[in-house]
Amino acid sequence: MIHISSHSLTGEPLFHLRAGDASYVFCVFHGYLLHLYCGPAVGEDDLTALLVKVGHDSVVPRPADTPEGWFSLDIAPQEFPVYGTGDYRPSALMVRRADGSAATSLRYASHEVLPGKPVLDRQPATFAAPDEADTLAVTLRDPGSGLIVRLYYTALRDLPVVTRRAAAENPSDNPVTVERIASASLDFATLMEPAELLHLWGTWGRERTIERTPLAHGTVSVSSRRGASSHHHNPFAALVAQSTTETAGPAIGLSLVYAGNFEIAADTDPFGSIRFQAGIESTDFAWRLDPGETFVTPEAVLAISGEGLGKMSRTFHCLWREHLCRGEWAERERPVLVNNWEATYFKFNSEKLLAIAKDAAACGIEMLVMDDGWFGVRNDDRSSLGDWFVNEEKLPGGLAPLVERINALGLKFGIWFEPEMISPVSRLFDAHPDWALGTSGRDRSVARSQYVLDMTRPDVRDYLFDTISGVLSSANIEYVKWDFNRNLTEAASADLPPERQGEILHRYVLGLYDLLDRITAAFPHLLLEGCSSGGGRFDPAMLYYAPQYWTSDDTDAMERLDIQLGTTMVYPCSSMSCHVSASPNHQTRRVTSFETRGHVAMGGAFGYELDLTTLTDEEKALIRHQVADYHRFYALINRGDFYRLILPGDTVNGKTHRCAAWMTVSEDRTEALVTFVVIRASIHPVYFLRLAGLDPEARYQEESTGAVYGGSTLMNAGINLTAARKGGWTDGSSVVMHFTRVS
Ligand code: DGJ
Repeated sequence: MIHISSHSLTGEPLFHLRAGDASYVFCVFHGYLLHLYCGPAVGEDDLTALLVKVGHDSVVPRPADTPEGWFSLDIAPQEFPVYGTGDYRPSALMVRRADGSAATSLRYASHEVLPGKPVLDRQPATFAAPDEADTLAVTLRDPGSGLIVRLYYTALRDLPVVTRRAAAENPSDNPVTVERIASASLDFATLMEPAELLHLWGTWGRERTIERTPLAHGTVSVSSRRGASSHHHNPFAALVAQSTTETAGPAIGLSLVYAGNFEIAADTDPFGSIRFQAGIESTDFAWRLDPGETFVTPEAVLAISGEGLGKMSRTFHCLWREHLCRGEWAERERPVLVNNWEATYFKFNSEKLLAIAKDAAACGIEMLVMDDGWFGVRNDDRSSLGDWFVNEEKLPGGLAPLVERINALGLKFGIWFEPEMISPVSRLFDAHPDWALGTSGRDRSVARSQYVLDMTRPDVRDYLFDTISGVLSSANIEYVKWDFNRNLTEAASADLPPERQGEILHRYVLGLYDLLDRITAAFPHLLLEGCSSGGGRFDPAMLYYAPQYWTSDDTDAMERLDIQLGTTMVYPCSSMSCHVSASPNHQTRRVTSFETRGHVAMGGAFGYELDLTTLTDEEKALIRHQVADYHRFYALINRGDFYRLILPGDTVNGKTHRCAAWMTVSEDRTEALVTFVVIRASIHPVYFLRLAGLDPEARYQEESTGAVYGGSTLMNAGINLTAARKGGWTDGSSVVMHFTRVS
C-alpha cells in the first residue's frame, strides 16, 4: 500500500509505503527527497518530526533557496544524494556533462503510483502481479542540466520488502557520462546503536561465511571488482544492531539483483546518521548517455525485519522463490542427480557414464549429469573451451546414442557448459582471437588456462546461442550446468569505441543476461543450474534464470555446514545445490559417514557426486533410503520456513560445542524437519536443542522415537539430544528428526 499525504512543514508530498508488516517513509522537503523511516510498521503519524535539526557547521554549504539556520544537504537524511552540491557523503549519482562539470542537484518534479510492479527493461528483477504490490515512481530533475532521474519503489503487499531502481535520462542535446549510480540509497538518521554490517565473505571453496563488522565513522563496505558478483563477497549486506540475534532485533537486508561488480556500503557521519547504499561498483564504470538515452540500474531489494535475522532470511527466501525464480522448475520437484565430476574428472567415456547411470537407476537417482570434458579435445583444463562439439573418442556416435541409453535406464540426462570462456588452444580462438576480452598491445592474463569471451558482442552471443542450441537439440537433454571459472581482466572490447570502454563490465553482464534469456526462452523445459567454480556467482540475478546454483566446490560435509548455513542468510534451500561426495573428501581428505553426508546434502537441491560403481551394497542401500527420504520431505525442505538453530561458530551451553542445527517448518506448522550435526564431539557432552517456528499450543510426535512433545516445550525447554544417537556422538555424527503435529 502506498499512502500519500502532505508534509506538515511545507505541504509537499509525504510517502508512506506499507510492505507486509514494515514501513518505508520519505518526503519532499524544499524539493529534496528526504528519508524518514525504514523498519517495522508505524502508523500514519507525522514523521516529519524525525527530520533531524542539527546546527550545521559554517564550513558546510546549504542550497541558496533553503531556510537558513539548520538545513544542509550534508546532514539531511536523503533518498538519492548527488555529487557536487553540498552533500559530501558517498553519492548515489555522479554524472559528468560535456563541459566537464559534475555538480548536480536533483529536485522533485512529480510522482505517480503504478499498479503491481512495472517491467522496466530486460535485466533480472523481482516480479509481482497487480494485486501483490504497488509501485511509486518519483521523478527528479536537475535544474542546471535538465537531467532526469526516476526512482522506482515497489512495496510488496504480503512481504516486508521494498525494491528500488533508478533510471537516469539525458534530455539534453549533448552526451553525458554516468560515472556512479546507486540502485538504492537511504539514510538512517537515528538507529540501532551500536550498529553492525552483517555480510557474507569468502573465497573459492569457502563461500558466504557470515561476518558482522561494527560500523565505524567513515565507510564500511563490501564489493566486487572481479566482473562477477564473486566468491569473495556476496551482493548482500544487512544493517543490524549489535544486539540483533536470529530471533530479535532490527535487521535490514539489502541485496542487489546483479551478477557483476557491485558495492554495498554503510557510511556513518559525525552525527551518527548511516547511509546505506547498493549499486554497481564504480571503479571502472563510465556509461555514456547520448541525448535522449536512459540508463536503468539493477534492482536493489530491502528485506525489513524487526524480529532478527531469521525473519529477514525467511523474507528473502520467500521473495526469491515466489517473485524471482522463473520457469517450470521454480516450482517443480527437481530430480535427484548424480554428477560425474568428482567421480571421473576428465577421464570418462560413454561406457563409464553408463556404468554410473546403471547404478544410479538401481539406487533411485533420477538424472545423470555429464560434467566438463565431453567436447573438443578436452582431456584436462588446458584446451577447447568454445569448441562445443562432441568429442567422439569419448562419446562414439555423439550425444544421441548415449542419451538414449541413459533415458532407457529411466534417467534424465544433463550436460555441462562454460559458455562465457574461450581457451587459447581452441578452434574458436584460432578463428576469432578478437572474440576474447583484451586490450591490444597487452598480454591477456590467464586463469585455468582460459580467456573470457567478449559477451558485449552480439556476434559472440549469436555463436554461443547457435552452438549451445545445436547441442541441446541433438539429444534429449533436460538440464544444463552453466559454469564460469575465472574472473575478468583486461576488460576491453575490440567491438566498442574508446568512449564506450568504461561500459564493458556492465555490458558484459547485460550480454550474459541476453544469452541466458535466449536459451531459457528457446528451451523452456530445461532445468538450469548456475555454477562458478562452485558458488562464485551465487546471486539473485543468476537465480532469475537458474533456480538452483552449485553452492561450493568444497563438498566436505563439515565445511558445507558453514557454507550452506551462511548461504541461507539470503538464499532459500531450494536454490542450494548440495551433493553427497566421496569419503575421504577430495578437498579436505576428511572422512565423514555416508549418513551424515546425506543429512547435510539434504539441506538443499539434493544429489550425488561420486563414483557409484565403487560403493558397497550397504552404501547403495543407504542411497535408496536417502533418495526416498528426500522425496518424502521435499516440500518441507524446499518450501518450508527455514530456521538456523545453531551455527558452527555459536557458543552452546556455556562452552563452544562444535555443532550445527537447522530446521524447516511447513507453512501450516503441522510438520517440521530438524537436522543436528556434531562437528567435533567432546567428552560427556550435553546437547540441548531449542526448536523454533512451531505452534506453541500444538503437540508434536517425533517419528523415530514416537515421543510426543508440546510445541512450547520444544521451543522453550528444548529437546535433550544427549542420548539421541545410537552409538553416541562422534565427530561428524548427525540425526534428522521429523516432527508431525498430533493435536
Ligand atoms: C568448476 C565447478 O564448480 C565444478 O563443479 C566442475 O564443474 C568443474 N568446474 C569442471 O571444470
